[in-house]
Amino acid sequence: MKPKPTGPIPSGYSAIDGELAIGGRAASELVDLAGRTPCFVYSREYLDQRVSMLRSAMPERLGINYAVKANPFALVIEHMAGLVDGFDIASAGELEMVKAAGIDPARVSFAGPGKRDEELEASISAGVTLNCESEGEARRAMAIGERLGKAPCIAIRVNPDFELKGSGMKMGGGAKPFGVDAERVPALAREVISAGAEWRGLHIFTGSQALSAEAIIEAQGNVLECANRLSDEIGAPLPKLNMGGGFGIPYFSGDAPLDISVIGGALGERFDALPDSLSETDLCIELGRYLVGEAGVYLTRIIDRKGSHGVIYLITDGGLHHQLAASGNFGTVVRRNYPVAIATRFGASPEEEASVVGCLCTPLDRLADNAYLPRAQVGDLVAVFCAGAYGASASPANFLGHGPAAEILV
Ligand SMILES: Cc1ncc(COP(=O)(O)O)c(C=O)c1O
Repeated sequence: MKPKPTGPIPSGYSAIDGELAIGGRAASELVDLAGRTPCFVYSREYLDQRVSMLRSAMPERLGINYAVKANPFALVIEHMAGLVDGFDIASAGELEMVKAAGIDPARVSFAGPGKRDEELEASISAGVTLNCESEGEARRAMAIGERLGKAPCIAIRVNPDFELKGSGMKMGGGAKPFGVDAERVPALAREVISAGAEWRGLHIFTGSQALSAEAIIEAQGNVLECANRLSDEIGAPLPKLNMGGGFGIPYFSGDAPLDISVIGGALGERFDALPDSLSETDLCIELGRYLVGEAGVYLTRIIDRKGSHGVIYLITDGGLHHQLAASGNFGTVVRRNYPVAIATRFGASPEEEASVVGCLCTPLDRLADNAYLPRAQVGDLVAVFCAGAYGASASPANFLGHGPAAEILV
């Protein structure tokens, strides 16, 4: 059987004494620091470099928000607080997390369908902007605000008539549970403004995990046009426009990194020619995986090495309960290998085809299928890259009772 390719290892990772280094420390030292395997290791330096690279590519006027759902580890949120302008949360649980990190709720917006009354109340009390997903939700928010004697900060999430082409997850275009259909937005906006809400403008999120700069440029143009049109129909300026995000990262063989300089250049030109309705508007994008995904590595130890009908299995103490996405069970149709390496033999020549699996008793628990790797032994560490986003936070840690992985920020 031909080996299956693994995804590209993100740039910036090198070896110390033959081991993968993260933040200048070797993998086995990091495991000692974390206290156990499996563990997620996130790098401050990587986060810093990523945000500064993004800022230098984007127009100065563009605010950058962090979507907490990508990685809500407390130390990551705290670190991001010093790097980004705003935070997008998806639940009252995430609200507690940003509050615990000392983040001013005025920098926070809350998007997500099905916000419960308690969540609306906590957000209104704190002064968080609600990106309302329906007429019903906006009206509930206004009623709660009236009861509390506090005007809710309301933006409307638009379900636009277009999508982010080529994105892994489409969040606009056609029937969607997210946002208010564009043609109904002006009436709802006028209603919330005249009811005395703090009008915060619009949120237009069109998709996520796009690797085509052209598709993102096109979607951003459509977002600005849509916001301009809606603002005219509303008859009031937009204090804020959250333009969504969708910047993807390479996970699989053949994926190429996004060219952000092209996106920033095109956005700069558009910002230079904004219509009057948007000239005073606070403009931002919201990104999750692009900011944190490549800054994280999942380290898991090989517990057993065995052969079955000609296949070598490296059986680890980790698995899909921490790495659902890498196992191919989170939003992918065809399973492909994430970037993986033998962390304790980093840079060694590949010698054999092996399948890396987790410790769960299900055939779904695969970290790398038939990959071409250096010969690894029991005790070696396996690294799964692109683990900084939707790893710990988007995997069923309680499945089979193994519990969560350790997490450290170095
Ligand atoms: C409203 C919203 N904001 C932000 C994100 C983060 O997306 P990503 O991590 O791909 O940047 C998502 C992802 O689904 C989302 O739905």
